[in-house]
Amino acid sequence: MITLALSKGRILDETLPLLAAAGIGLAENPETSRRLIVATSRPDLRIVLVRASDVPTYVQHGGADLGVVGLDTLLEHGGEGLYRPLDLGVARCRMSVAAPLDFDYAAAVKQGSRIRVATKFTRIASDHFADKGVHVDLIKLYGSMELAPLTGLADAIVDLVDTGRTLKANRLRAVEEIMGVSSHLIVNPASLKLKRAALAPLIERLRAASHG
Ligand code: ATP
Ligand code: PRP
Repeated sequence: MITLALSKGRILDETLPLLAAAGIGLAENPETSRRLIVATSRPDLRIVLVRASDVPTYVQHGGADLGVVGLDTLLEHGGEGLYRPLDLGVARCRMSVAAPLDFDYAAAVKQGSRIRVATKFTRIASDHFADKGVHVDLIKLYGSMELAPLTGLADAIVDLVDTGRTLKANRLRAVEEIMGVSSHLIVNPASLKLKRAALAPLIERLRAASHG
């Protein structure tokens, strides 16, 4: 049996067409069923539904053989013990620094002043500002980062941006792009050794589907 870890929402929505192109359908709709393990049209492949940030943990420890995870989540996890063979190109967005319209980010960075940055992505933010030589006080949040500069909790945020609508609605703007983000296939290295006969062709089918 091969176990694939997916998270409900955009990763599931955008991975389903790739699975379909690889000839794999789901036995039931995970968005409406409460089931956490879903069978597929392939008797040797099942899907487990986990929280997006838990996908690397499941794959690393063998709870799943493979999974689909955003690059942001993968970098925050660290990627230890994971093989990353394929960028699926789905759930595309950008990791950016954003600040209120009236905050002079360029001047704050140039002057070498300490800036207060709120984010869920502390590892990515910390690496980014360390590379720039900017002193930063990081404030860890778990959601609604946009609120932090509006309430005086922080000067800026590091968050995912797609259309920019969330920033605009909160009178913020992206002041620097840190990286492009998309979702990747991750694989447990031991699974790849033990189940190579089944996993290698599946990875190649998903590669063809994602490039097609
Ligand atoms: P968790 O529930 O574990 O906190 P989450 O709420 O971030 O995770 P999703 O919102 O489903 O989970 O996002 C999954 C992935 O989709 C993110 O890791 C990111 O790579 C990508 N993503 C997030 N927001 C957007 C967006 N607005 N547009 C496109 N892709 C996005
Ligand atoms: C993500 C992200 C931003 C928003 C950006 O949130 O955290 O808030 O999308 O997208 P936009 O630029 O198109 O507005 P999401 O919609 O996933 O909400 P959640 O993090 O609360 O799940």
